Amino acid sequence: MNRPTDAHNFTQASTIAGTTDGYMPGFGNDFETEALPGALPQGMNSPQKCNYGLYGEQLSGTAFTAPSHQNERTWCYRIRPSVKHSHRYTKIDLPYWKSAPNVDPDVISLGQYRWDPVPHSDQSLTWLTGIYSMTTAGDVNTQVGMATHIYLVTESMVDSYFFSADSELLVVPQEGRLRFCTELGIIDVEPQEIAVIPRGLVYRVEVLDGPARGFVCENYGQKFELPGRGPIGANCMANPRDFKAPVAAFEDREVPSTVTIKWCGQFHETQIGHSPLDVVAWHGNYAPMKYDLRTYCPVGAILFDHPDPSIFTVLTAPSGQPGTANIDFVLFRERWMVAEDTFRPPWYHKNIMSELMGNIYGQYDAKPKGFIPGGMSLHNMMLPHGPDKNAFEGASNSNLGPEKLDNTMSFMFETRFPQHLTAFAANEAPLQDDYIDCWDDIEKKFDGTPGKK
Ligand SMILES: [Fe+2]
Repeated sequence: MNRPTDAHNFTQASTIAGTTDGYMPGFGNDFETEALPGALPQGMNSPQKCNYGLYGEQLSGTAFTAPSHQNERTWCYRIRPSVKHSHRYTKIDLPYWKSAPNVDPDVISLGQYRWDPVPHSDQSLTWLTGIYSMTTAGDVNTQVGMATHIYLVTESMVDSYFFSADSELLVVPQEGRLRFCTELGIIDVEPQEIAVIPRGLVYRVEVLDGPARGFVCENYGQKFELPGRGPIGANCMANPRDFKAPVAAFEDREVPSTVTIKWCGQFHETQIGHSPLDVVAWHGNYAPMKYDLRTYCPVGAILFDHPDPSIFTVLTAPSGQPGTANIDFVLFRERWMVAEDTFRPPWYHKNIMSELMGNIYGQYDAKPKGFIPGGMSLHNMMLPHGPDKNAFEGASNSNLGPEKLDNTMSFMFETRFPQHLTAFAANEAPLQDDYIDCWDDIEKKFDGTPGKK
């Protein structure tokens, strides 16, 4: 290898471009990070004695024997091992956080539904008490399916911690800013960003700007991964470098603390005498992450027609059946519409998948009215849906020049399983009783005349 004779020929970067303070870039990378110098063992995982008197511990997010490209685990070097962060358990009730199967005999899940944003109340709510389930699908006990929730959070958790053994959580803020203080570091999120919190990871949620409102997809199944791009190639859609994992951060706090655990759909509490967020250093690929939705590079039709909405998939959680996701997280954001002689909004359709949508901001092209920021809609398995009359007539008669679809960001949690409404979604959340009527005034145009449009 040729080496320069004069080292001054090189200019070394003084900063790393694009690196955000406190985060490490790359989806599913094999990260390493330490909050104290020398805390992370080098060259091995389990030294006879760890530096600083730390305990080594592995957190396995997949079975030991999962295929290499899916195998995820992280080695933690912590003040106390996790066995000291849990004691005897008592059951508690969080009545609004439901898990599948949750089929309410008094609720009709068959239908097209839409909700206004759930308003904040005077109640003081934390991440635990402020989660309200909207739908559930599959079965938490067999680690299949998902649930969708909204959160209304006004208060930070204090000396209170949580983990879900049931699920990975995908958090989509719509209002306010949250801080996830996790065992593996700190993640701050705001609207237009998302956070993904792995199964089993202990954390506390603080409110940075409140009240906070947003959406959660609780994934009971296999972890979210990046969708295969196929012929699109190596770039666009969600790029791996835009996902950020936190650097190590820890608390050494000796105060009475509560850890709440979600396990098989039930909630349990255990009391300990210190903070469980005591990981001083870690390495591995099982980590929380955040992603800025503004970095999502949409790909679409550039001559005519448009691809299926799966072209906008940000993350996918596979099921056992290839190409048929347990969950797809799909983003409808600003983009140019250029297709010629084409009906450009989403077409009318029925789908084996069940689609729960949420509006982060702006206006959605298939529903110019009624689907507002903070609001949701549900188009369940094999139920028809599509543009309302205004959207249809507008798109059928508009001048088809290049058009920027601006001021719009909505998303979809789509699952292969039917979604069952909770009693909260059916009876307490602000359901729009007239949503089904939005297609009433669509006209019959056909009268047998050829060439009529
Ligand atoms: Fe759809």
